[in-house]
Amino acid sequence: MSDQQDFSDAERVETVRIKGLGGELNIAGNFYERVGGKETFRKLVAKFYEGVAEDDVLRPMYPEEDLGPAVERLQLFLEQYWGGPTTYQEQRGHPRLKMRHMPFKINPLARERWLLHMRAAVESIELPQLLEAELWGYLDRAATAMLNTFED
Ligand code: HEM
Repeated sequence: MSDQQDFSDAERVETVRIKGLGGELNIAGNFYERVGGKETFRKLVAKFYEGVAEDDVLRPMYPEEDLGPAVERLQLFLEQYWGGPTTYQEQRGHPRLKMRHMPFKINPLARERWLLHMRAAVESIELPQLLEAELWGYLDRAATAMLNTFED
């Protein structure tokens, strides 16, 4: 990793498609398959956005009246990241998440709220402990990487 990057997890967070321990061999199935594929990510993201819809810090950040398109973008991104279909890339290009979040004020409170709803969503899909820990570890680091201000 180059020392020009501003946070240590940059590579992992921006990864278009993660490789599991078996690399491309994926003997035990990749993460996407092991957690139950599309249906699991659909449930995760639906539950997450139920929380966002009621959140007085996060909801105003979403430019569109209808959260439907945002739901779909996050689902497709996460599916691709964990080894599922690459539809996100085909529709949106490289994720460049840090850059795409620059228009929004992501301070520690916004990060905390995002993770609060994501925690509820992760618990709702009831994954085996190790898979849950891997998913949560990534989301927590990614949310930290998205911080772009410490102002209120
Ligand atoms: C830390 C707090 C975060 C806040 C407040 C936040 C907020 C937002 C907002 C307001 C949008 C625009 C809605 C849209 O057009 O889709 C967005 C888009 C998106 N966010 Fe976040 N986000 C956060 C963290 C994350 C994290 C950690 C991830 C990934 C693990 C993520 C993934 C995405 C994706 C994939 C999009 C759509 C990008 C695109 O293709 O345009 N966000 N986020």
